[in-house]
Amino acid sequence: MFVELKEAVAALKQNQVVAVPTETVYGLAGRISSEQALKLIFSTKQRPFFDPLIVHVKDKAQAQSLTQEWSEVADALADEFWPGPLTLVIKKNSKVSDLITSGLERVGLRCPRHPLALEVLNNLGEPFAAPSANLFGRTSPTTAQHVETEFNHKVAVLDGGPCDIGIESTVLLVDQSKIAILRKGHIQSQDIEKALQERDLDFEWMTTISKSQSPGHMQHHYMPSKPLFWVEGRTDHQTLLKMINEKIKSLPQEVEGVKLVIPKEVKTFVELKLPVNPAQAARLLYAELRRLAEGPDDCLVFHKMDMHNSHDWEALLERLKKASSSLIHI
Ligand code: TXA
Ligand code: MG
Repeated sequence: MFVELKEAVAALKQNQVVAVPTETVYGLAGRISSEQALKLIFSTKQRPFFDPLIVHVKDKAQAQSLTQEWSEVADALADEFWPGPLTLVIKKNSKVSDLITSGLERVGLRCPRHPLALEVLNNLGEPFAAPSANLFGRTSPTTAQHVETEFNHKVAVLDGGPCDIGIESTVLLVDQSKIAILRKGHIQSQDIEKALQERDLDFEWMTTISKSQSPGHMQHHYMPSKPLFWVEGRTDHQTLLKMINEKIKSLPQEVEGVKLVIPKEVKTFVELKLPVNPAQAARLLYAELRRLAEGPDDCLVFHKMDMHNSHDWEALLERLKKASSSLIHI
């Protein structure tokens, strides 16, 4: 159900949830002070409560108003990358409910760059929490139409066009001057290092991160509605088809609570083809996964190639690996 900006803001004020475009993916937004809206986010997505939500803020000052500590490192990174696709995970204060953080002491904060997201935030006068606007474990939406299809037209959607970046934000834990990447994204470790070095700031990459500091990391995620096979090495079409059918037999009907539609026999498969430029590939990734899964073929295949070995592909490959039902080495 498409809505205009005014209606979107009104609905959020009335404790409803609204899908809002960001430069990464569409988010399912709810006001952070509305317990009703926060619960509605989880129930709409069928998301378990142990997976924390990212809080979206209009600017740095609003982020600071939700935290207990704001280190020089956090300050520098917000100055450099906000508004933009970087989430900073920082010690929260009592304004942030445990529902948002899954009971953790830190909250993920991000100032989005999409003009409509910023307009919503400015009109709302309060941050909103927003996970990606898809059912739990599934492919993230990068157009308003994806959200419409995902929730069967039942969720209010603000149409901001296709998302520019196409994969979710980089999530960075910041503990004073110690940092750790919890989820890879468009902003890479080299970009972060460069920003901090340019400002002559001391920082240290954390080497070990406990599971509780980095929740919501399922082995499978972003999954299309049909099985996707990650294939390394080359063989002819018939041999690959045979290998896929061997693998299909042992695929579970459900992984980590997400149901899969497994065909008894794979007669045809379709190859996920992405542009050679990783930024362009990221922009298209989720839309392509959805488009191919809606097509006539029984399953999807991604051929991992040597050109994918550069840093620039890491965030994308991480998603593709988690979206895959199975890996085939030839
Ligand atoms: O680009 C994005 O980040 C999008 C748009 C809508 O902003 N949002 C997004 O949210 O991807 P979601 O819920 O799909 O992914 C949030 C992930 C969690 O699964 C978790 O891995 C991490 O961010 N996260 C959030 N809050 C955290 C916290 N307090 N501590 C550790 N990790 C956290
Ligand atoms: Mg998500």
